[in-house]
Parts: sequence; structure tokens; C-alpha cells
Amino acid sequence: MSNLWDGRFENEMAGAVAEFNASIGFDKRLYDCDIDGSVAHAAMLGETGIITRGESDRIIAALEEIRRDIADGKITFSVRQEDIHMAVEEELTARIGDAGKKLHTARSRNDQVQVDVRLFFMRETKAILEELIRLESAILEKANGNREELIVGFTHMQHAQPVTVGFHLMAYFQMFRRDMERLADARRRADKNPLGSGALSGTAYPIDRDMTTKLLGFGAPAENAMDAVSDRDYIIEFLAAAAISMMHVSRVAEEFVYWNSSEFKFIAIDDAFCTGSSMMPQKKNPDVAELLRGKTGRVYGGLVAMLTVMKGTPLAFNKDFQEDKEPLFDAVDTWKASIKILREMIMKTQYRREEIDKHLAAGFMSATDFADALTRQGIPFRESHNIVGRVVKLCESRGCDFKDIKKDDLLAIDSRFEWLTIPDLSARGLVNARASFGGTAPSEVERQIKTCRAWLDGIKR
Ligand code: ARG
Repeated sequence: MSNLWDGRFENEMAGAVAEFNASIGFDKRLYDCDIDGSVAHAAMLGETGIITRGESDRIIAALEEIRRDIADGKITFSVRQEDIHMAVEEELTARIGDAGKKLHTARSRNDQVQVDVRLFFMRETKAILEELIRLESAILEKANGNREELIVGFTHMQHAQPVTVGFHLMAYFQMFRRDMERLADARRRADKNPLGSGALSGTAYPIDRDMTTKLLGFGAPAENAMDAVSDRDYIIEFLAAAAISMMHVSRVAEEFVYWNSSEFKFIAIDDAFCTGSSMMPQKKNPDVAELLRGKTGRVYGGLVAMLTVMKGTPLAFNKDFQEDKEPLFDAVDTWKASIKILREMIMKTQYRREEIDKHLAAGFMSATDFADALTRQGIPFRESHNIVGRVVKLCESRGCDFKDIKKDDLLAIDSRFEWLTIPDLSARGLVNARASFGGTAPSEVERQIKTCRAWLDGIKR
């Protein structure tokens, strides 16, 4: 016999087919979860009398030894074993003989693989949530330290209105907050124990699913066996949440790239996150930010791959589903690492005050406020908008700024400048004035930081 399932077979699998069919190359990563599932299953089999207590104890003791040996790299896997489930079982039987052959009573690889992946899922998503909490705490800290710092706000990538750095950072906070909520929501739905579903229809053995549910730490047993062995939508939800969050990561990263450019010089990304050029000695490239942006692609790819794998698959298990692991593993690794690196990069980045001030002085960012001031003095906003537009045109033709325009010039544009007054149009004044709920005024950003800190503290608890 060369395979655990080959009782009804006459010929061996072709070598290339064994390779093609096997998942051990990547699902060996699930060994810890697989052993946890088997330990719970063996304990339940012993407790319910499906196997003897002695057998159950021997199985569990041997599984724990196998766990240690795999962790220590003492066990090598082969494609012949097909997957981690059969590799562990084979090792178990080699160690304790007949008792080992009883472990798979009342269980199928179809529910087993789901137990493994769900355990992995619950653990890894918790770790990602913790990483997101660290990112959010860092953003809060950085925003709090930069509540007063001015920077250019853009629309269409053109100078629009001045804002504070703290305000801009708090926009990032909101994006990652929604990512956390999406992930927590997906987690809540995935928290079901598939063990005991069997191949697809449950089992005739008197198993105790509540016991394994408790032992494995799941919220509840999965309600329907057929669904439990063929549901992969929790993975798709995760990939969707990861894809959206990586889209956010890439937007932040893109701002770091162009803000760090010699054209903008808003920020200086720390040396630790840059690399040099092999040819051009002057270069300090924002490689890490670019890579964060680029990594988004593989997560989107994983989402589309899994939607496509699952599409049109009939109930219940199909081997297609084996394709779920690599996109899941890759997205877990990519998302987790990206959030961590992004946090470190944000914390170490310096804002370049003098350079930012040069940008703040240019670009007529006070034009809206100029128009608003005229409106407050009785000019309908649409007219104010047009008047200020003409002032901008004049300034542009002279290559100057609002402050350089003389009263006569204004009178030539509109005779009402006889009595209209022009208020403080400094970036500082404009920012301080935007104290509406959700606005950029430091007082308002302080309120946002306070509310968000309370929310984050609630999550941490
Ligand atoms: N290696 C398989 C997977 O990754 C385990 C389930 C196999 N079940 C089966 N009936 N072939 O999904």
C-alpha cells in the first residue's frame, strides 16, 4: 500500500499526478491546527466511548510528540502523503500502530481540512486585527503630535485647501477603522466548528460536537454538514476585506511616494525605508512605499482566484477547493506584513516644514475663503465665485499672489470692492476657521482624536 486510501485501487498514481494532486507542499503550514483538531477529535472519541480511553490517551500523547518533532524539523514530508492530514495520520500509525488507525473514525478529510483552515483563519485574523490596532494607535499618536502642522490638501492632485497633518492622518485612521470592522465581521461569521460533518452528511457514530466545539474554542458547531464541508465564502470575505485594506495601504503608500519626491518634498521618508540606486549615486528611492503599493496586486489576484474557483462548484466537497489555501496564506502574510511596515514608516517619517510652507503660499488655496468672505458681505456665492475667479486670472497673468493685488485692480474687476473688505487669508486662519464637525480645525481634530481613541481603547479591551 502506498496511499492511505488505496484499498480499491489497482495501479499507482503517475509521478506527475501525485505531484499535481498533492497539497502537502503548502498545507504543511497547517500542522499545528491539524494536530489541535485531531487532539480534540480523539478526546471526544474517548469521552463518548467510540474508542477506548486508553486509545484516546495514546493518540493524544503521540500527536503531541509529532507536533514537537515537526516544530523541530525532525519530520520530512513527501508528495506521496498528499496532504498534512494524511502525513500526520501516517506518522501517528507508524508510532503507535493500531490505535493510530482509529483516529479517523467518524471523520472525513473534508471536515478535517475545514477545521484546520478555520482554526488557522481565526488565529491569523486575530493577529491581523492586533496589527491593525497597532497601526491605528500609531496614527493617533502621530496625528496628535501634528494637530497644528499645516499641509496642502489636494483635489484632482492640485492644491485645493490647506489642512493639518493631523487631519490628513485621521482620514487614514477612518479607512483602517472600517477595514478592522470588516475583518471583525468576517471573523464573527466564520467562527463555526465544522468537525463532525463527516464527508458531507454527518455521521452515524454518537459524536459530541459541542465538546469538540468547546475544546477548539469555536463559537458554535456549524449547523449543516453539507454546507460546512463546502463553504469557502469566509475565505472570500477575508480576501475581500484584505483587498480593500491593501487598496487603502496602497493609497497611503502612493502619497508617501509623491510627497517624498523632489517635486514635492513634503516629507522625508526615513533611510530605513529607502534604497539606493546601483548606478545613480544621488538616489534615495522610496522602494518600501512602492512595494506596499505593488503588493496590493497579489491580494486582488487571490480574491479573483477564489471567486473563480468556487463559482459553479456543486455541493458538497470538490477537489477544486484545495486551491483555497495558497491565496489565503499569501493574503494573510502580505496584509499582516504590509500593515506592520506601514506603521513603522509612518512613525519615522518627518514632515518638511519649510518646503510645505512654500507650497502653502502658492496655488490660491484661499480662493474659496476669499469668495466666502464676499458672500458674507452680501454678494451671492455664485457671483463671489466668479469675482474671485477673475482675481485668480489676473494674478496668474502677472505671476503674483492675492496679497500683491492693489485696490485699483480689484475695482476694475468689480466696483463693489469700494466697500468690500478682504479678511485674513493666511493658511493658518483658514484652517482654524474650518471647525465644522469633521473639519480640519485643530480643535475639531482634537475631538476626532479623542473619539477615535475611545473607540480603539474599547476594541483593545
Ligand atoms: N488536501 C485536501 C484539501 O486541501 C483535503 C481534503 C481532501 N478531501 C478529499 N476528499 N480529497 O482540500
